[in-house]
Amino acid sequence: MSAFRTLDDLPEDLTGKVALVRVDLNLPMSGGDVTDSTRIRAAAPTILELSGKGAKVLLLAHFGRPKGERSSTLSLSMVIGAVEAVLEKEVMFIPEIAGPVAMQAIGILRPGDIGVLENTRFWKGEEANDADFAKGIAELGDIFVNDAFSAAHRAHATTFGLAKALPAYAGRSMQAELEALDKALGTPEKPVAAVVGGAKVSSKLDVLKHLVGQVDHLIIGGGMANTFLAAKGVDVGKSLCEHELADTANAILATAEAAGCTVHLPYEVVVSKEFAANPASLRTCNVHEVAVDEMILDAGPAAVEALSDVLKTCRTLVWNGPMGAFEMEPFDAATVTLAKTAAALTSEGSLVSVAGGGDTVAALNHAGVAAQFSYISTAGGAFLEWMEGKELPGVAALSA
Ligand code: 3PG
Repeated sequence: MSAFRTLDDLPEDLTGKVALVRVDLNLPMSGGDVTDSTRIRAAAPTILELSGKGAKVLLLAHFGRPKGERSSTLSLSMVIGAVEAVLEKEVMFIPEIAGPVAMQAIGILRPGDIGVLENTRFWKGEEANDADFAKGIAELGDIFVNDAFSAAHRAHATTFGLAKALPAYAGRSMQAELEALDKALGTPEKPVAAVVGGAKVSSKLDVLKHLVGQVDHLIIGGGMANTFLAAKGVDVGKSLCEHELADTANAILATAEAAGCTVHLPYEVVVSKEFAANPASLRTCNVHEVAVDEMILDAGPAAVEALSDVLKTCRTLVWNGPMGAFEMEPFDAATVTLAKTAAALTSEGSLVSVAGGGDTVAALNHAGVAAQFSYISTAGGAFLEWMEGKELPGVAALSA
């Protein structure tokens, strides 16, 4: 991992300084209310540390995809209440991102006060990573802190350009994320296992291609396992399956074999004729016994036990995606059981476990083990791009 500056490299007293802090406030909303404050909580330590050191803290964030136009429903004014609730401090909303109005607002703030600038994506310069746009924002502050790993896969003005325009630092959440990810795939303790699940191979092709060259064991679950099984000649009945990706799946299996990576597919599966909770047609069978009118909806208990034994031989685990159709009982069983094994091994100190991306956090929360994993990333797309082995522009800008 390349070196980057952190908040430890800042002076103790930041009175008189303005810190521009990129956070992720792309929050889930329902009926005008924020329904999950996880991302605010993730950024809170950085915000409060800078405020505690006396800096005026200005938060920068995008919200939705307004494509360079102002939109009242995507104004960051909508999330101010939620930010105040987490920080337990009054926060000023500033309806601009640069220029005299923003300057005036900064003049009103006292040392330690916090402001939120308007949605960065209301201006076309953000997604265009326009240097002049970044310069205009940079004029407001003295330092730039990026605490939004989940937006680091975007080369935008406030994730990349600002890091070039001002002295740049990783915030606490960014720092923790990068350190955890480095432990998982950068310089991991071997053997390394990866669990990759989810519905479709097509959405994670690059992840799979990269991982087979990095890990010792690749455990494939969810609907994407069906594509691999079918490619190997298994009749998967009515299961979700991307038959057109058979050649791609076989090529990934061949690359894995050449790299010494063992790919684990379920040999026993839970099937049903309908996708419904506890259906009458539910049964567990060998993967070669799936009927033409049945769907594979989860890995079977014996297969999961075998996978748990694999995890017991490993020192590092990186997990993305559920093992079955976990949102419907009893098809959550494989995900829950394997997650519990990983959590127990982590608690015993024999496994470093890092998980992230989309449904994964929901699946591990459902299993009740999220807190026992070594690290859970709140990032979606950024976590996947990291699993693909890509350099994330927001991270690269901090290291350069
Ligand atoms: C996310 O919600 O994953 C990040 O905030 C990135 O959002 P984006 O996909 O709209 O760039």
